[in-house]
Amino acid sequence: MSPDRAEVVVDLDAIIHNVALAIERVDPARVWAVVKAGAYGHGDVAVARAALAAGASGLCVATVDEGERLRAADIDAPVLLLSQQSHRLAARIVAARLTPTIHDRAGLEALVDAGARQLPVHLKVDTGMQRVGVRPDGLAELVAAVAGLAPALQLEGIYTHLAVADLTEHPGTGEQLARFDASLGELDLDGVMIHAANSAGALAHPSSRRDLVRLGIAMYGLSPGDDLTAEDLGLRPALTLRARVGHVKQVEAGSSISYGWRHSFDRATTVATIPIGYADGVPRRLSALGGAEVRCSSVASAIQWSASSPWIN
Ligand SMILES: Cc1ncc(COP(=O)(O)O)c(C=O)c1O
Repeated sequence: MSPDRAEVVVDLDAIIHNVALAIERVDPARVWAVVKAGAYGHGDVAVARAALAAGASGLCVATVDEGERLRAADIDAPVLLLSQQSHRLAARIVAARLTPTIHDRAGLEALVDAGARQLPVHLKVDTGMQRVGVRPDGLAELVAAVAGLAPALQLEGIYTHLAVADLTEHPGTGEQLARFDASLGELDLDGVMIHAANSAGALAHPSSRRDLVRLGIAMYGLSPGDDLTAEDLGLRPALTLRARVGHVKQVEAGSSISYGWRHSFDRATTVATIPIGYADGVPRRLSALGGAEVRCSSVASAIQWSASSPWIN
């Protein structure tokens, strides 16, 4: 994307602010920064460095590729893969010193076969998300399997993922945590890190904080759910998408605009067109929803549009 047309601007100071705020809120739990999917589109390496500089203790990614990108950038911090990977990737996980999440015994054995030596692993328990993870009643057996594969593997963490933490009054979070605690039961887990919270859990459900929280959306300064505004939480949005006004024209009352003529003007109007659209990843259906939330601070100057056209955020 040419900066002359449109660009994404990421404010790393906002990332640092949001991580520092979360660290203070969840203390003594640690913060691990979720930088999967290119740090939610913000740029994984830069965000990872900022989060670590702000005090994050580890990083979380979704894929082996993402973890390898961090290692290639000389990032040395622990990098947790958030779900079990294909066995074909075990050798790459071992080589890049990524921390695998494991749901079953075969996943453990694939790592040992790939030459793992003292590799930390985290076990994921499915307490209600119903996507991935070992069933609560299978956890004890999996913990024993890790112990049986020492010293190749070392149990570093056990966690679950909350499905409705963003709905602050929903009883499901308490139910998931109760199932999680029951699965941990009488296990001897001295020194094993226990974790459950995503952003919403970390900020709205203190009982979910445990030893660490996996902070994603809140680190980017966005609300983790309808019940929690970013502003109230003190978060600062890190990303600005902005485009230069490319054209300004007057349209008559009663005329309609753009694909589908979905919007009609009830009065004569000035239209500023910005050269960014669905080829850039802006969903076309936003127009049916009334458009993106746009801060048109520059519209007044757009009306006097000239060669040095203004930016619209
Ligand atoms: C297992 C796990 N933990 C934590 C997160 C971070 O969630 P959030 O962005 O809501 O903080 C994710 C995100 O997808 C995840 O998959």
